[in-house]
Amino acid sequence: VRPSKRLDSIGFSVIRKVFERASALERSGRSIVHMEVGRPDFDTPEHIKQAAKEALDRGMVHYTSNYGLLELREAIAAKLEQDNGLSYAADGEILVTIGVAEALYLAITGWSDPGDRIVVFEPTWANYVNAPVMLGLSVERVPLRLVEPVRFDLERLEDHISPRTRLILLASPQNPTGAMLHQDDLEAIAAIALRRDLVVISDEIYEKIVYDGNRHVSIASLPGMRERTLVLNGFSKAYSMTGWRLGYVAASRELLAPLLRAHQNLVTCACSFGQVGAIAALRGSQDCVATMVAEFRRRRDRVVSRLNEMPHVSCAMPPGAFYAFPDVSSFPLPSDELAWYLLEEAGVAVVPGEAFGEGGRGHLRISFACAYDDLVDGLDRMAEALLKLKDQA
Ligand SMILES: Cc1ncc(COP(=O)(O)O)c(C=O)c1O
Repeated sequence: VRPSKRLDSIGFSVIRKVFERASALERSGRSIVHMEVGRPDFDTPEHIKQAAKEALDRGMVHYTSNYGLLELREAIAAKLEQDNGLSYAADGEILVTIGVAEALYLAITGWSDPGDRIVVFEPTWANYVNAPVMLGLSVERVPLRLVEPVRFDLERLEDHISPRTRLILLASPQNPTGAMLHQDDLEAIAAIALRRDLVVISDEIYEKIVYDGNRHVSIASLPGMRERTLVLNGFSKAYSMTGWRLGYVAASRELLAPLLRAHQNLVTCACSFGQVGAIAALRGSQDCVATMVAEFRRRRDRVVSRLNEMPHVSCAMPPGAFYAFPDVSSFPLPSDELAWYLLEEAGVAVVPGEAFGEGGRGHLRISFACAYDDLVDGLDRMAEALLKLKDQA
């Protein structure tokens, strides 16, 4: 017997490795500040949990439509109209999935074949590379310009597109840098997608987690793009529902049809009573989202200013998401060793930039989705450990 060759290049997630080691240290009595995991630390708002509990008690324990509950699809359609100016029919243009993670897999499965190419911006969320590789695609990486503010290098985007390129994958705000695509970036990408006949996968999971008056714009709202964009979104980040595993795809009937067939055969449908919670998330007050985002902003300001006070560390201000991605390339240790050093020496768990691709080397990803006081403590410990390292050099 032998495992699939397609998995050869897919290692155990570095984020999980850091987490496992941090947890082992914790079990041995060490105090650890967790800044490695990319999930909000807040509980899911009460009204959302209550709706799911009631659904469970009412006996909503069976399969739903493969598309998801109609009422949820109607709530998603209303949200897309109101927040994004996008018009999708609840019946046939929206598919409820097991998180954006499943939606991503479906989008690639539905619109490419083994041997095709997909374009991603790097540093990138690891799934954007690993999901295509699992499906037999090759990944063309376009480096982000890691300056202040982080920029998508679109002048050279078309150089990365070949006749085998079928898909381009966008996320705005982006993980791990928090960078956002603005109107002129979106127009440039749309022009290329139209000219080169590409399908765009637009991951909008962080759309609500934006700061300083930034506003997320969906590329699907640009002229000619509704017909070639798969809009991916979900409940994990905005409503702190990562464990619920609920997301969705919105697209024209023609674009969505192959995804539905893959979804039917892969998972049948998303969790029934969880979907009722998702209805409550969309239809209930959005104050919970505003409260969480305000807290993220408070943490972001603290993290970025503290990082920039540390000698030899520089950090761009992320316009969205909940990650800081400081440049630590002037330390004597490479960033992967530096991350392990910080964990062992200071009990601070952060992710080395190369976990997000070669383009992330020389950086660390610091998630500020943990309690404010823990962040303050973690950054103090980090500063002290880095000073020690510099003194040894
Ligand atoms: C860019 C991006 N998209 C999607 C996800 C996961 O979304 P979901 O929980 O809906 O699968 C993450 C999680 O870290 C992410 O960073």
